[in-house]
Amino acid sequence: MADQDLATKDRFEDIDFFADIEVTQRLPEYLAAMRDKSPVYKEPFHGVYMVTGMEEAMQIFQQQADAFSSSVAVTGPLPPLPFAPGGDVRGQIADHRGEMPWTDHLATYDGAEHAAFRGMMSQLLTHKRLKANEEYVHGLVERLVDSVIDRGGCEITEDFAHALSTLVIADLLGVPEEDRQSLLEAMGPDPTQMEGDQGFKIGPDPLVHLHGRFLGYLEERLANPRDDMLTGLAQATLRDGTDPGLTRKARLACFLFGAGQDTSARLVAFSFRVLGDSPDVQAKLRTEPHRVPEFVEEVLRFEPPVKTLSRLAVRDVEIGGVDIPKGAIVTICTGGVNRDPRCFTDPDRFDYDRPNVRDHVAFSRGSHACLGAPLARMEVRVALERFLQKTSDIRISEAHHGAPGARTYSYEPTYLLHGLQALHVEWDKA
Ligand code: HEM
Repeated sequence: MADQDLATKDRFEDIDFFADIEVTQRLPEYLAAMRDKSPVYKEPFHGVYMVTGMEEAMQIFQQQADAFSSSVAVTGPLPPLPFAPGGDVRGQIADHRGEMPWTDHLATYDGAEHAAFRGMMSQLLTHKRLKANEEYVHGLVERLVDSVIDRGGCEITEDFAHALSTLVIADLLGVPEEDRQSLLEAMGPDPTQMEGDQGFKIGPDPLVHLHGRFLGYLEERLANPRDDMLTGLAQATLRDGTDPGLTRKARLACFLFGAGQDTSARLVAFSFRVLGDSPDVQAKLRTEPHRVPEFVEEVLRFEPPVKTLSRLAVRDVEIGGVDIPKGAIVTICTGGVNRDPRCFTDPDRFDYDRPNVRDHVAFSRGSHACLGAPLARMEVRVALERFLQKTSDIRISEAHHGAPGARTYSYEPTYLLHGLQALHVEWDKA
């Protein structure tokens, strides 16, 4: 895919969003071209209805309980459904869940089952627990910043952000310190990695390896309760008083552990890229560090780390004037929705002063909205505040990414997540 193809906005139909690695390099242009065609656009490769408009995405979030299933939330159209949808699609999903990848994780549950398990998890994320976690984050950030600050620069994801997001979620759950590194290493890559120019593959669930570990923690906590979230989970029951058992609870713990990792690390990296690529924004933020929360919201709007949210229509439904038949998959492209010019003025401009800076869909909306959003916002805010205090200038490394105006960045080859493969930054110490 050459630049020219997208610049003319008339060739994007030839590009398979779910298979072409080059899409990841030109995402905003690609999504804008698609929205120009239609905010609900049926792409020709898999027949997926791609949603790039805010109003249209909101219609899906509002109707997700009744018209859509989240069983394909993570994987979208790949691999194809193990059944030909027709008749009672909810019944078909129930019959075939075991053959659909990822469907034993909370984000893909539906209806009453989802509400019951989500309710149980929410109750464990108490104010007291989040407060204690925030205190830990302050100390952790201090240690991590101190470990790199004298170097005058680093690769921000591996040298800083990864450790931050892993240790924060490990602390929240109560994973023993000595196990944290090996848990991180046990996680595989994102399951939607693309291969080559034309290919794709759905890899194994990277959380599978963690299941046994979390099952072990939960068993141990039942025998020897502590004051931590794993103990709370081991002892928790659903709203109706039933205990879903440790196996399913271990899946919830694995998902929480996985969901809170790379997403937050990606957000840190994109935040640094904005600071480095927009010296005016950085200078302004340095004069008003209390505005870091709005800055983080604008980074979430500008570069949402979760790229796609997919749903399966369980009945015929109309979205934005487009008829979507029962059995079709819709994919909300967060990056497209977050730059919808009908919602955000001058959407390709980074501006944390915009009045509706929080109106993005980076954390999704409605019944499946991210449970970890307050935690992610907090850890990234604390990290940025500390870095801004300890430095007087943060820059993108020209040796790695080129001069301003001619930067090169590589993005992770997946259609699910949006992230930089590496970001090298430099700074002057304050
Ligand atoms: C910048 C960081 C993060 C981003 C961008 C993000 C994004 C998202 C999105 C878009 C969803 C909804 C998926 C859908 O509607 O299909 C989601 C769900 C979820 N997230 Fe996050 N997340 C982040 C951090 C975290 C953290 C730190 C945690 C854990 C503490 C977490 C836990 C969850 C859970 C449990 C769900 C499933 C909610 C449900 O289906 O009911 N996330 N996240």
